[in-house]
Order: sequence, then structure tokens, then C-alpha cells
Amino acid sequence: MKRELHRLPPGPAGLPIIGSAHHMISNKPVFRWIHRLLKEMNTNIMCLRFGAVHVVVVSCPEIAREVLRKNDAVFASRPITFASGSFSFGYKGSILSPYGEQWKKMKRVITSEILSTALERRLHGRRAEEADHLVRFVYNQYCDTTANRSVDVRHVAQHFCGNMIRRLMFSKRHFVEPRLASAGAGPGPDEVEHVNALFTLLNHVYSFCVSDYFPVLVGLDLDGHEKVVHGVTATLNRLHDPVIEERLHEWSTLRQHGEKREIRDFLDVLVTLEDSEGQPLLSLEEIKAQTAEIMYAIIDNPSNAVEWALAEMMNKPEVMEKAMNELNTVVGKERLVQESDIPRLNYLKACIREAFRMHPYHAFNPPHVAMEDTTVAGYLIPKDSHVIISRVGLGRNPNIWVDPLEFQPERHLMSSSNVVLTETDLRFISFSTGRRGCPGVSLGSSVTMMLFARLLQGFSWTKLPDVQTIELKESTTNLALAEPLILPAEPRLPVHLYESI
Ligand code: HEM
Repeated sequence: MKRELHRLPPGPAGLPIIGSAHHMISNKPVFRWIHRLLKEMNTNIMCLRFGAVHVVVVSCPEIAREVLRKNDAVFASRPITFASGSFSFGYKGSILSPYGEQWKKMKRVITSEILSTALERRLHGRRAEEADHLVRFVYNQYCDTTANRSVDVRHVAQHFCGNMIRRLMFSKRHFVEPRLASAGAGPGPDEVEHVNALFTLLNHVYSFCVSDYFPVLVGLDLDGHEKVVHGVTATLNRLHDPVIEERLHEWSTLRQHGEKREIRDFLDVLVTLEDSEGQPLLSLEEIKAQTAEIMYAIIDNPSNAVEWALAEMMNKPEVMEKAMNELNTVVGKERLVQESDIPRLNYLKACIREAFRMHPYHAFNPPHVAMEDTTVAGYLIPKDSHVIISRVGLGRNPNIWVDPLEFQPERHLMSSSNVVLTETDLRFISFSTGRRGCPGVSLGSSVTMMLFARLLQGFSWTKLPDVQTIELKESTTNLALAEPLILPAEPRLPVHLYESI
């Protein structure tokens, strides 16, 4: 009866059995093909069929709210795919797990234990050290005359995130500890491999792999993703496992001697959690899955938003001037900007909101799976459909935003005196909302803002001599800037501030 009353959202007709899978295979990158189709069909909701799977694409805030707010409980699951299963050690974490007891358990662990306000406060010193290290690292590049005083902003931003999360997770910036001894040391080969593996993971999970929709094809590796997934997993295991095993050993020895020590980092939390009978709450696989998950949760969004914001601002001196005026007024030049300044840096937060709006790292929010038949925008969404919300469809939507392709931070200053990076009305997606929404808002916001504010306050950024305007072109394969942003940087604060950190 229900199926007769409602019809599926509009979409291409597709072939028997395979649906539109042949188009998905031949139109790379798939997200650009999907956006072309949305435009051609002039629709904000579209249904594609890949094999037996309905993939419903949503590209306006109103329908996105119907999915993630009104019908949040129905859409609280995630797909089962080869990549998500491998990266999560068989769905032992929270981000990639389908709805169920394991997801609930791990979401509780991350929300109430890892991201608790008390621990966030306790680890403030670590974050502050990494913010200092960022300034020191860029300053050293300026001082190194052989490097022509230009800074690869992408490299700096991505490795700031990598350093930050390794410090919070493992209490280590570098996998091989002696590197820490050299104060301005950049990433070594292991850290570069680590960050690359995390980005490769993010680029391959939910990436329209043919076996995501035809599970019988798993093992044939038709689009080469399985090889990549095995490579990433091997790298993460090689780098994470020794640290995790050493820590388990340390705590087990302490337990045997009836001793304890204070919790120093996220890994300590995972290793020491106990169930109601005093037994370890998490298995080794759960610890490994949660560790990997925390690592990749923070690596892409902050670094990509800051790189894009800076690139946009290089072409808009009036925006840069307003940001610098705010920093001068709120912080001044006699001290470095701190996390405690963030609530008063509204213009800078508006710049980051604008970067999230226009330049998300991922074209789509991670898929949400319908746990029962339901209706959205009057259309039938069958059980097991994957719903993907287009982040550019929301953020660059001309019905919502005036001049959507213009970087105008002022638009975020209209409605609120305290600008935040969240957007629960889903006029664009930053942290999303609902049951599967991001629990890392506080940590994610402070990491993003400290990266941005320190780079702006610490340095004057100029263009390379032969460059008139920064080319704001997206990569052909994803939404990152086509080429890493490379800019000359000059210190703008008194020398003693750089030399004292
Ligand atoms: C600027 C930084 C960050 C941004 C923009 C961001 C954004 C997001 C988004 C868009 C989602 C998907 C929500 C959905 O499916 O509707 C998500 C999920 C998630 N994020 Fe974040 N995130 C950030 C930082 C973090 C941090 C620091 C952590 C924790 C260390 C974290 C942990 C998670 C988890 C556990 C989920 C999965 C929730 C679930 O599926 O139940 N995120 N995040």
C-alpha cells in the first residue's frame, strides 16, 4: 500500500539489474557526474540505482533537514562496504559502524570519555605546545634562506593536524621519539606516511567503489581500491600497533602491581576503561579501530578549510585586513593568540565558516542508511537506501546564499554575536547534526581556529613574485585546491615571541 502511494525520487532510468552502475564506473570522479545529473534534471533530490542499492542524493537544506533532523532515527545507520569494514577492523569503532549495540558502545566511549570536557581541559597544555610548534616550524622555514622563505601551507596545515592528534592520542609528535628533541623538527618519513595514509583512507571510504553496491565482487578488486585499502591498513598497523601494544603492556604491569598513574592521553583512556565487573571494557581490535578513527576524524577538515580560507583571502585584501584588525584588537602583538581568545575572534570564525560552506573536503556527507521504508520530500525512500547529502549542493545553493561563489565572511556575522563553526540548520555542512552528527565539535573547532589564527597572527603572507592572483581552482579528482598553496611568509610579531617558544 505504502509503496503504491509514494514513488521514488526522480533519477536516470538505468538498466535492468545494474541500474546506473555503468555510468558510475565510466564517469570519474563520480561526484562531479552526480552533480551534473542533479543540474540536468533540475532537482534537489535524486535517486540513482547501483545494482540493488538505491542511492538517494539530497542537495538542498530543506530536504537535508528532513533527513538528518526530522527522520534522524530512521537514517542512523551506515553502509557495509569493503573499505569501511577494513578500516574499522570489522565495524569495531563508531564513525563507520552500522546502527546497533557496537556503534552505541563506541559512540559513548568517544563522546563521554575521549571528548569529555574534563579531558579536553586537561590536555590543553598539549594543544598549546602544538600551536607553539606550528609557529616555530613556520618561523624556521622563514629563517632557512635556502628554502626561499616560501611555505607550503598545505604541508604545514596537514602536519599540524597530524602532530596534534598524535600528541593527544599517543603523547608523541613523532613515532621515533628523538625527533622531538630538535625543537623545530618537521615530520619525518613515518609522519609523512601516516598523514598520507589517513588522507588515502578518507579518499577511499565511501568512494563509489563498484563492490560497495555489488558485494559479490569483493575480492576481484575491479577498481583497485582493495589494494589501496590493504596498503593503508598495513601502514596504520605498522605505526599504531607497537604504541598500542607497549601501552597495554605498561598498564597490565601496573595493574599486576596494584598501581595506577594519571591518564595522559586518549590511548590511556581507551586502555584503562573498565566494565561493571572491573574488566577491560575494550578489546584490542576496538582500541585499534577507535585509535584509527580518532586519527582520521581530525586530519582533513581543519587543514583543508584553513588552506582554502587563506587562498581566498590572498585575493581579497579587504577580508585579510579585517581579520588582521580583529587579531590586533583582541590579541595585540605582544603575545601569541590562545584558545581562550577564540570566543572573541568572530570574524576569523566567519572566515572558516565560509571555507566550510564553499570548500568542504568531501563532496558528500558520509552516507546514512535508511533502516526502514520512509518518505522524504514526499518520495518513497526504501529501507536500505543510502542517503548522501551534497555538501556543495547545500553550501553553494543559490536559493539560500546570495552570490554563493563569493567568499564573504560577513554573511555569517548577521544573525549572531557569537559565531560558531556548527551549522545545525544545514545551510551548509560542517559538523552535521543528529544521532550520527560529529561529537568532536569542541576539539575540531579549537584545532581549526588555532591553526588559522596562529598562521594569520604570526606571519604576513604574500604572493610569490610572479603571481598576481591565487588560482582558486579545485583539483579534478576532489574538492581540494588543485595545487598546494605556496606563499612567502614573514614574521610580524616581535622576534622574542618566536624565540621564546
Ligand atoms: C573541524 C573538525 C571536524 C569536522 C568539520 C567534522 C565533521 C564531521 C562530519 C561532517 C561527520 C559526519 C556526520 C554525519 O554523518 O552526518 C562527522 C562524524 C564524526 N566525527 Fe567529526 N569532524 C571534525 C572533527 C572531529 C574530531 C576532532 C573528532 C574526534 C576526535 C570527530 C569525531 C567524529 C565521529 C566519532 C563521527 C561519527 C559519528 C557517528 O557516526 O556516530 N570529529 N564529523
